[in-house]
Amino acid sequence: METRHNFGSKLGAVLASAGSAVGLGNVWRFPTEVGNNGGAAFIFIYLICIAVIGIPVMMSEFLIGRHTHANTISAFAKLAPGKWWRIEGIAGVFVAFLILSYYIVISGWTLFYLIESLSGHLQADRDYTLVFDNFVSNPWLPVLAGAAFMGLTHFIIARGVQSGIERSSKLMMPLLLFIIGILVVCSFGMPGSSAGLRFLLKPDFSKITANVFLSAVGQAFFSLSLAMGCLCTYASYFRHDTKLPKTAVGVSVIDTFVAILSGFIIFPAVFSVEGVSVDAGPGLVFITLPHVFNIAFSHVPVLGYIFSSFFYLLLLLAALTSAISLHESVTAYVLEAFHVSRRRAAAIVSIACMTLGVACSLSFGVWSDLTLFGMNIFEIFDFTASKIILPIGGIIICLFTGWYLDRKMVESELTNGGTLRFRLFRLYYFIIRYVAPLAIAAVFVQELLS
Ligand code: PHE
Repeated sequence: METRHNFGSKLGAVLASAGSAVGLGNVWRFPTEVGNNGGAAFIFIYLICIAVIGIPVMMSEFLIGRHTHANTISAFAKLAPGKWWRIEGIAGVFVAFLILSYYIVISGWTLFYLIESLSGHLQADRDYTLVFDNFVSNPWLPVLAGAAFMGLTHFIIARGVQSGIERSSKLMMPLLLFIIGILVVCSFGMPGSSAGLRFLLKPDFSKITANVFLSAVGQAFFSLSLAMGCLCTYASYFRHDTKLPKTAVGVSVIDTFVAILSGFIIFPAVFSVEGVSVDAGPGLVFITLPHVFNIAFSHVPVLGYIFSSFFYLLLLLAALTSAISLHESVTAYVLEAFHVSRRRAAAIVSIACMTLGVACSLSFGVWSDLTLFGMNIFEIFDFTASKIILPIGGIIICLFTGWYLDRKMVESELTNGGTLRFRLFRLYYFIIRYVAPLAIAAVFVQELLS
């Protein structure tokens, strides 16, 4: 059996975890949610959700992973031998597998759009709805793009914890932040961008409804990669001197920062073009944006070229660092449970995910008629994972940490055996026992009813 490695440095631990958190959810889903839920008021509620629910739940996942130094399934089995809590470990790894299968589809689109942009094809005056529809319904191209993306992910995972995951995160995360900086500056320079800024900064509190609140909790969970075994797996590679509360706060701050900056990139651009709607939904980055980039930069096409290429590169990097964490969650289990080499474990996971990924990809074209309850394969996967297993998993993690685990063990893990001060422990404990599980349960029930 291979020896288990840890991340070599604390910075590596933070950047890898932040890489997991920063993903399509920040650059693609967050602006969509902001657009659909009224702008600044949503952001305000979102920030509260991150602080009050997101960070405590992340600390819980961290402590479970680091205490056991094992993959998610074994972690729960070690802490609760013979008890039904173990199901959460299985659910976490299963949901990571499921999500990876469709995450690679969207990531493949991102890769394709980056190539299109680099080769100048996105700079022509085209009907981008048609371009998008033709692409996603093509039986080959999206599958090929998804497979190429899976290949990249596989390559990094096969190299291992330190030389694969940690090294690539240390390279990709700073690059990602740098690109965001450039894009924000470009976006501010666009004519009409002030309307976009107002939309993001001036809250209209009359827009806050129960629904806005629930969307914010859901977005916070997805964006922070909670309840999927990813952060638990990464924390199993944390060293004993890694400070869990501080790491959780650091990761959440980076994640939120990137989400909000993505808003600053997208909305000024969108508002600078008349007649484009801000609540265009998932098509926002693949249909609306290419169109917007062309119009906004029609006087200096080369700037449009740079802006759009950087934008899709940003999306690709974000997707890749998240896909790595999903892959690792499953690979760590296969590797440790079946005593195979890392390369072999990674290959098994890549091939299995890619097989399901093909089905997800085809559900936008030749298999679009295969539906269940009106959802195609892609939507069934997404629904099962993010609407059913994730919220239940979130509740179980809270109850497990708050009610099952020994309070002394929890406190000791969060304070590194009493060597650190964690003044807010009692608040944390209260949240994890009562506030977080009830809030997640409210979202869950509401989602099901709707
Ligand atoms: N947090 C990632 C995002 O924002 C999504 C993700 C979910 C990544 C689960 C890993 C695990 O896109």
